[in-house]
Amino acid sequence: MKKLSAVILAAGKSTRMKSAVSKVLHRIAGEHVISYPIAVAKKCGAHKIVVIRRPEQEDLKEFAKLSGVESAVQRKALGTADAVMAAKSALKGFDGYVLILCGDVPLMRPERLKLFVDNIISRRAAVGVLTMQLADPARYGRIVRDLDGNIIKIVEAQDATSDELKIREVNSSIYCMRAPWLFKALARVSNKNSKGEYYLTDIVGLALREGDGAIAYCEESSDDYLGINTRIELAEAAAIMKRRINERHMLSGVGILDPKNTYIDGAVKIGSDSTIMPQVAISGSSTIGSGCTIENGAIIRDSIIGDGVTIKAYSVIEQSQICDGAIVGPFARIRPDSKVGKRARVGNFVELKKCEMKEGAKANHLTYLGDATIGAASNIGCGTITCNYDGFGKYRTVIGDGVFVGSDVQFVAPVRVGSGALIGAGSTVTRDVPANALAIARSEQKNVAGYASKRRKLKAKKR
Ligand code: UD1
Ligand code: MG
Repeated sequence: MKKLSAVILAAGKSTRMKSAVSKVLHRIAGEHVISYPIAVAKKCGAHKIVVIRRPEQEDLKEFAKLSGVESAVQRKALGTADAVMAAKSALKGFDGYVLILCGDVPLMRPERLKLFVDNIISRRAAVGVLTMQLADPARYGRIVRDLDGNIIKIVEAQDATSDELKIREVNSSIYCMRAPWLFKALARVSNKNSKGEYYLTDIVGLALREGDGAIAYCEESSDDYLGINTRIELAEAAAIMKRRINERHMLSGVGILDPKNTYIDGAVKIGSDSTIMPQVAISGSSTIGSGCTIENGAIIRDSIIGDGVTIKAYSVIEQSQICDGAIVGPFARIRPDSKVGKRARVGNFVELKKCEMKEGAKANHLTYLGDATIGAASNIGCGTITCNYDGFGKYRTVIGDGVFVGSDVQFVAPVRVGSGALIGAGSTVTRDVPANALAIARSEQKNVAGYASKRRKLKAKKR
């Protein structure tokens, strides 16, 4: 039975963010703020989700499409009741319940919301409001109950009496309402209040007057319902999300030395007995295997790291794969489409780009390997460069297995080196090298006997 739909309000002006980007499209732990309520609505079982946006929020329209949800336009921000009304035609004919969420509330836990939804639906109320107790209820709408503890109304802070302002139970702006009744009732909400807005909160009074019933469902944790209006609140929510993510990993066996200073996106997977040192950032769709060590300051984006890998300090890895037992860094840069094979080693100040280093290959110091294949167990000497770009196109360097490349070698691509070859230090290799050959391409050395001492004497006389 399709008994649940969701409406996610996001048409507010978000002026306090001072940003050209819709506030719900800012990011927390790698995901857009609104993607969290969308995920919650999906996990609660909503078969249709409608995001309410302003006409000019084209970015939000696109995002909704990409997330597989609908969006509907609220022409003018006339208030929260008017915003929900904007979903009327998208939910035409739907006769189940509507879960109403705010696009700027990212920390909700789906399991708790599901309990709320189930509770309201099973009690057949027309309106369910999720409430919370706050030490400082500030600007929130107050929940007014009668002597029996039943909700009578929600009063906005600016419309409240001094007694009502003392109430600490507040409206989270999360609701579950019966659809056909909701859209009929919304038409009767007025804007006669201090802000001149159509308040969704007035729906409670209507439900009670019409005998359909309203329930205030009080939750304990208020962190879950923090709304984001400023960049300060965005940072606070991100800190809470970070703590939750890091605790989840630690409980599943990942060592995180300094959880306050470790930044792991929500979708990242990490195997047990891996250790993450301070100031590490692992983002996007990255996966880290078991028994890895990720040292201080490493940045890993959208990459796959195998088991038993060591990423040494301050290395940057993007859209690449590091296979089991490899050692990378410190200060290595692995650019997109690279693969560091099993037990291969990439040392300090080495940059790879579209480079495959096969099993056991090594490039330990000061090297650029771009558009290259380095065969198994080959050794690349310090200061080697693949010259992959001639100002017009990019070309590949292909090095076979067991090749020894001396220090300070340039490979002018396209060029191929057969397995087992030896490349003399300081060579500029412009032609293919056959397997097992020695290639040496540098000017021959000349020794002039006694020249240095003669020169010293000459200089001394002049002084
Ligand atoms: C609202 C509630 C208040 C509650 C508080 C919790 C009302 C009248 N008040 O107040 O009781 O304690 O949330 O955070 O509902 N929006 C639109 N279109 C509009 C106006 C708002 O889409 O015309 C969206 C906003 O983008 C936001 C949500 O609705 O996601 C809430 O609006 P906001 O202006 O933040 O309401 P509050 O004054 O905070
Ligand atoms: Mg608000």
